[in-house]
Amino acid sequence: MEGPTNTQRFSVSDKPFLRALKGEKVMPPPVWLMRQAGRYLPEYRATRGEAGGFLDLCYNPEMAVEVTLQPLRRYNFDAAILFSDILVVPDALGQKVSFTAGEGPRLPPIRDESGLKALSSAKLHDHLAPVYETVRGLKASIPEKTALIGFAGAPWTVATYMVEGSGSKDYAETKKMAYGQPKLFEAIIDLLVQNTGDYLISQIDAGAEAVQIFDSWAGILPEDQFARWCIKPAAQLTERIHRERPGIPVIGFPRGAGLLYERFVDETGVDGVSLDTTMPLAWAAKVLQPKCTVQGNLDPIMLITGGEAMDQAIDRILEILGNGPFIFNLGHGILPSTPPENVARLVERVRNFKA
Ligand code: CP3
Repeated sequence: MEGPTNTQRFSVSDKPFLRALKGEKVMPPPVWLMRQAGRYLPEYRATRGEAGGFLDLCYNPEMAVEVTLQPLRRYNFDAAILFSDILVVPDALGQKVSFTAGEGPRLPPIRDESGLKALSSAKLHDHLAPVYETVRGLKASIPEKTALIGFAGAPWTVATYMVEGSGSKDYAETKKMAYGQPKLFEAIIDLLVQNTGDYLISQIDAGAEAVQIFDSWAGILPEDQFARWCIKPAAQLTERIHRERPGIPVIGFPRGAGLLYERFVDETGVDGVSLDTTMPLAWAAKVLQPKCTVQGNLDPIMLITGGEAMDQAIDRILEILGNGPFIFNLGHGILPSTPPENVARLVERVRNFKA
């Protein structure tokens, strides 16, 4: 029998984050935080200042690798998440995205057939080549126990930005299209399912060991519409990744889905589900955790609050979810005003947890 080759020397099962996603109860639980690279870190602000625009940073592999590594150096998280943004996909399809200070993203909105026709998949991989380069750079530079997560926005959430042309309070334009012109909206979603799948497969081929699909606005739809625009695309993406790249786990994040989290898990086949801040822990432990690994769900504002209130909130999550396959995380991304020392305190507390 031949021994393992060098590249196989550390099998994936040595990484606590990947073991948890395979359904193992890992103690202490692995920990990483959504948006762990970002403006709360002075070193991020410095690199961001040198990059020019935010998207220039996303498309600069050397700088994107650097900002991905920054939080790992401070906190030794169990996973690194590729530094990029969910809106690079519409940008790659030809719907030009811009970010201006303090205003969030802007895109020329798609409101009819002509807007859809202007999009093209032809240059997807050329446009996103710098992102794949970032993944390869990370694969070569992260610590051996750290897992590398690739990601994309879920078709529904990405479509809201494409149709609204920005963030929104009520997503009325997107809902009106989904409810009133379902054929047109379905064509947008199908285009995103195809291209997001291609994009995630390429991230995996560049070295991503797991992928997370962010559906930040999943929680605003009625049940039947949620099934059609959130569950179905997530199921298609998960099925494709499992079929074409067996062994790569998929984490879904249907933020705000409430009771529909259960249907989401049942019908998508995800390996892990990320719980938003409002999800009741005992319910998640009883209903979701027997079906898949759960991740979450400290309130990002609790991370700003810090101190004993934060310690208690962390312990409660660990005590209730720590008895099954679990990954510690926030319920949504880190906020820019987060004190970096609170993140250190959080990681230390999770690492010192004993069942
Ligand atoms: O988690 C990580 O560290 C990886 C990087 C990451 C970013 N965005 C970097 C970013 C990830 C995973 C995202 C996902 C993302 N982007 C989502 C889904 C998750 C969520 O938070 O709900 C969404 C909806 C977006 C779209 C987006 N990107 C918005 C609405 C904004 C502006 C709001 C803001 O915080 O300024 C962004 C910008 C953005 N994406 C920043 C970062 C670090 C801040 C930009 C800057 O540095 O100026």
